[in-house]
Parts: sequence; structure tokens; C-alpha cells
Amino acid sequence: MKAINEQSPEIWTVGGGKGGTGKSFVLSSMGICLALQGKRVILIDADLGGANLHTFLGINKPRISLTDFFEKKVSLPDLVVDSGIKNMGLLIGAIHSLSPDGIKYTQKLKLFRHIKQLDADYVLIDLGAGAHFNTIDTFLLADKMIVVIIPEIIAIENLYFFLKNAFFRHMLNSLGGHGLRDVVQNAWKNREEHDIKNFTQLIDYLKGLSKTMENIINTKLSDFRAYIILNRINTSQEIMIGNSVKSICKKYFGLNSSYVGYIEFDAVISGCINKRQSYMQAYPASRCAKEIERLTENLLEGTDIHTTL
Ligand SMILES: Nc1ncnc2c1ncn2[C@@H]1O[C@H](COP(=O)(O)OP(=O)(O)OP(=O)(O)O)[C@@H](O)[C@H]1O
Ligand SMILES: [Mg+2]
Repeated sequence: MKAINEQSPEIWTVGGGKGGTGKSFVLSSMGICLALQGKRVILIDADLGGANLHTFLGINKPRISLTDFFEKKVSLPDLVVDSGIKNMGLLIGAIHSLSPDGIKYTQKLKLFRHIKQLDADYVLIDLGAGAHFNTIDTFLLADKMIVVIIPEIIAIENLYFFLKNAFFRHMLNSLGGHGLRDVVQNAWKNREEHDIKNFTQLIDYLKGLSKTMENIINTKLSDFRAYIILNRINTSQEIMIGNSVKSICKKYFGLNSSYVGYIEFDAVISGCINKRQSYMQAYPASRCAKEIERLTENLLEGTDIHTTL
């Protein structure tokens, strides 16, 4: 964890593949927890197609957005608006004329550079659903890569797909720097010839090609860690799903993860959105609010929850 007075903020990104798992709710709630602790927080809504983070804070959609950064060259700090919560600012995506595909690679790198220079202790970036490469690249920008899942098979399968894609891109970025990008792409293109049927077999095949390749991949595997949040649980048995997902990530894909917490289902949450209230402020003593405080603390400390039934 970075010290408060260090220059670049600690970046948390929240993704996970499946739509509607609660990414925006969880991110805005964690932001409020951090801000209430006196940390300077900026939330970025990078769901370029469907920016709605402001709704979870109970404020109107800001008039300025990343569109102004890309089109009018307005500086990023000038696009951060008051979130209605002390210590917390908000910057929204809302790219009207630019589709996510339309953002040039150089523009994307410029945006990432400017995000890392924002004057804040924590920058929390909300991603849209899916595993588009722009979403994955933004996910990989983080110091803490967070995924929000729900106890449903589709959400969990989407998560594995999302994480495999994220690791693949993470590895490819690094191998590209060593001039080895083509080796990976050719291995996948000619996978039948090499008897590669899945992600794990591809990784094993690549590691077997040379010591350099093996070292790079091992380093990339060891610095890749996803922080899992299980949202909308209905029974205490479901808490254990987070442990299973963590074990499967390691056993089948070799990917590290931490299970930082769960949040139970609370029908009041949707009601708050409709009433334009922030749940964490309207119901600070609720069980969900306490669960969110606990998982935010676990993220700050980098610790897993300990679950037993
Ligand atoms: N723990 C919970 N209990 C009950 N409802 C919840 C909970 N978490 C989120 N919700 C509700 O689920 C809906 C989807 O949440 P949210 O918009 O945060 O998901 P999302 O993952 O950001 O979706 P998208 O992929 O579309 O951006 C919202 O209506 C929200 O109120
Ligand atoms: Mg969302």
C-alpha cells in the first residue's frame, strides 16, 4: 500500500465480465468507505457505453466527461466533479461520439498516464461488462484488480474467461517487450499441431519453449492477482463459493486470487437507487454496509476473509 503523501494514487479497478453483478454499486460503496476514513478518492466511470455511477451517489449526471478530455483537450483534474461526498470526486466516461473501439491506442495510453498523475490517494475505476480489450487494458492498469461476481454459474464462467483474457494480455504485453509476441500468437494459431486445447496447455507449451519464456511467464503469473468479491448472496452456504472460485483459478489456470469478502442480497439497495440516495450513507448500520466496510479493509490490508461454515 502507498503512503498518503506519495505522488501517484493507488488504483483499484473493478471488472469481472458479466453485466449486472453489482460492480458499480460495490465500487461506489467502497469509495464512500475510503472517503469517510479521510482518504482522498476519485471515482472514474469507465463504462464508456453505459456510465451510471453518478446514480449510485444520488447526483445528476455531470455535464463534463472524458469526451472533453479526448475531444476538447480539457485536463483530467478539471473534469473531476463534486460527488456530493466529502473527500470524493467523480469523473465520468460518457463517450458520445467515440465508441470504445474508436479510442486510439495513443489516446488510451495518454489517458492512463494522466490517471496515474491524478492528485488523490485512491482512484477507483468502474469498468463495463464484457472482456473487450479496452476494458481488459484498463483493468490491468490497477494496483488492485477487483472482480465482482454473484453466486450464479454464468457470472462465474464469465469471470474465468475474463481473468484468462486479462492474464493473456498481461503476459503478451511483457513478452512483446522481449520481441516474443509472435511466438505466442503463432503457438495459438497452430494450436492443433502443438496439441494445445486450452489456456493451461498454451501456458505449459510456451514455458517449455525456452528458459527465458518460462522465467517471464512465471514472473507474470506471480505478479497477477485478482481480488474477488462475491455479491448478492442469499444463504450462508453461498459464502463458500468465493473459496471455490479462488481454488479453481489456481488449480486450473495457475492464477492467484484473494477472496476479500461477500455482500448479501438487500432489496433496499435498488430502492436507494430509485430514490437517488447513496446506500452507504442512508443505511450505514446495515449488514451490507458492514460487509462492504470489512471487504474494503481487507483490500487495504491485502488479506483474505477466513470462511468456515
Ligand atoms: N447486494 C445487493 N443486493 C441487492 N441488489 C443489489 C446488490 N448489489 C447490487 N444490486 C443491484 O443490482 C443491480 C445491478 O448493480 P450494478 O449496476 O452495480 O451492476 P454492474 O455490475 O455495475 O452492472 P453493469 O455491468 O451493467 O455495469 C442494481 O440495481 C443494484 O441495485
Ligand atoms: Mg456498472
